[in-house]
Amino acid sequence: MRLSLHYIFLLTFLFSFSLDAQEYQPSPENLEARDWFQDARFGLFVHWGVYSVLGDGEWVMNNQNISIEEYEKLPQFFNPIDFDPKEWVSMAKDAGMKYITITSRHHDGFSMFDSKVTDYNIVDATPYGKDIIKMLAEECRKQNIKLFFYYSLLDWNRDDYFPRGRTGNGILGRGEGEWEDYIVFMKSQLKELLTNYGEIGGIWLDGHWDQKEWDGKKFGGLRVNWHYDEIYGMIHKIQPQALIGNNHHIGVIDGEDFQMFEKDLPGNNSTGWGTPADQIGTVPLEVCETINGSWGFNLQDRKLKSDKELIHYLIKAAGYGSNMLLNVGPMPNGKIQPKHQSSLKAIGNWLKQNGKTIYGTRKGPIPPNDDYVSTQKEKTVYLHLLNPEIEMIHAQQVPVRIKGIFDMKTKTKLAYRNDRYGLAIDVSELSKDEIDTVIRIELK
Ligand code: GLC
Repeated sequence: MRLSLHYIFLLTFLFSFSLDAQEYQPSPENLEARDWFQDARFGLFVHWGVYSVLGDGEWVMNNQNISIEEYEKLPQFFNPIDFDPKEWVSMAKDAGMKYITITSRHHDGFSMFDSKVTDYNIVDATPYGKDIIKMLAEECRKQNIKLFFYYSLLDWNRDDYFPRGRTGNGILGRGEGEWEDYIVFMKSQLKELLTNYGEIGGIWLDGHWDQKEWDGKKFGGLRVNWHYDEIYGMIHKIQPQALIGNNHHIGVIDGEDFQMFEKDLPGNNSTGWGTPADQIGTVPLEVCETINGSWGFNLQDRKLKSDKELIHYLIKAAGYGSNMLLNVGPMPNGKIQPKHQSSLKAIGNWLKQNGKTIYGTRKGPIPPNDDYVSTQKEKTVYLHLLNPEIEMIHAQQVPVRIKGIFDMKTKTKLAYRNDRYGLAIDVSELSKDEIDTVIRIELK
């Protein structure tokens, strides 16, 4: 009996060892980049493509069932003469953003960069004829802000994106090519993105879900092999510091460096198709959200979020230990909608006052809810009171030793208790801010 138990232990040990040996080990540069990423906390998402001409979002090809032949006319009308990368980057910096993630190619299959493996790109197919990704990359370098590339795995244009996925099936004129050719194409394009634009922040993949099985029983299974091992391996080999994220709405796949949550605070799954709480990994997190209701430019989108809602979302994301990637959809002339610019300015102004409670923090010991959220940096916990109506904060007991609790603005000491009955902080005397009243908890 003893012997066989030993034998089982030995086998378990060997088995786990062999599993470990196959796992992705991030390089030192990559680990350093992950720390930087977590400290950065706030980035700009840019959805821009030829679809902006139609002013109906980046899914317009699918939603209006525009045929390949019709859609391929769009690049002829795409001439963003007012595009000024300096304005974009300065706007992002003024908003307090530390990186920019831009769509290099979206589901419509149009490349917004100079690609040698397809003519269906901004340089060859538009009257503008310039590589906006290159222009942006150069400006980002000048202004010292990192650039990430969004890259769509899914493609509504190419024949070799076959078998087709769950979307785009009403688009006329799609052919039937070879899946493996598509993989070769994607790898060549990613290689271009990783070699022609200097050092980048990372690659943001999207569209995995398009190939999930229709059949309820098999849902979660895939119709194709994305060859992530090869794709991720190549990215890390060319640029080891480049962080890989994949908007697949599932747990972290081996080789990924951060996990993203689309329009959803990590684990809430408020969208219904988000990543559930039990699939949150140990890598850095990022939540992406729109200022209105659309990613790509949408002329009739009237769902503008208030400055307060956006700032709250940033604070909440930080309270979940996550970055926030906030989107703008530039117009076909290259300008960013004035209303979006003013939202970004408002967030930037707020961050100028309160940035130290967000940047460089990790999630705090008090679990977040709609009324308050905590972030932490070393021995300081920032408790953000988002609901000004609250007189007494009552949370679960916090397993930390508290030195004192203060109103951050006036430095007034606040009365509190932290014992088995919970954490209680008396905020009845505080003059509260409509957006956020920060309470500083100093730990021993
Ligand atoms: C979704 C959409 C896509 C958008 C992305 C951003 O996956 O398909 O249009 O780019 O979300 O998170």
